[in-house]
Amino acid sequence: MVDEQWQEMFAAARRAMAGAYAPYSDFHVGACVRGESGRLYSGPNVENAAYPQGWCAECSAIAAMISAGEKRITAVLVVGAPSDGAGGYNDDGHALCTPCGGCRQKIREFAAPETPIHVCGPEGLRRSFTLDELLPLAFGPDNLIQIGE
Ligand code: THU
Repeated sequence: MVDEQWQEMFAAARRAMAGAYAPYSDFHVGACVRGESGRLYSGPNVENAAYPQGWCAECSAIAAMISAGEKRITAVLVVGAPSDGAGGYNDDGHALCTPCGGCRQKIREFAAPETPIHVCGPEGLRRSFTLDELLPLAFGPDNLIQIGE
């Protein structure tokens, strides 16, 4: 993936992160997915007083893509960091904000094993993975098809 495309996804995810609703964890996340059309879809994490009802930024971004009628993801970018409570982020030495297990599975539904997943801090790109690296031997739509059919 060329640098310019990565930068554009980062800008969209960073804007989404600024809109995160995370009063319980104070951990703000923004995600951006690129659809097959080249369009970008982004969204933040949205927490809830009933904690398990909150959802991840990746879910928001995927829902935006599906709402627009797209079904394939060609790249994912996630940016996350703890809030400093003053509109900025406390991110010194913080661990990578890799997608959680549930989100890896949600991404799998719409992406190929070689799809890049870029993991960022507020300052920029930290590491890139493929979906297959983060979710090897994944169960996907193809696993529902009986062998021999
Ligand atoms: N979170 C995400 O939005 N995406 C991830 O990939 C990891 C975790 C959110 C969920 C929760 O609102 C907060 O980060 C702390 O777990």
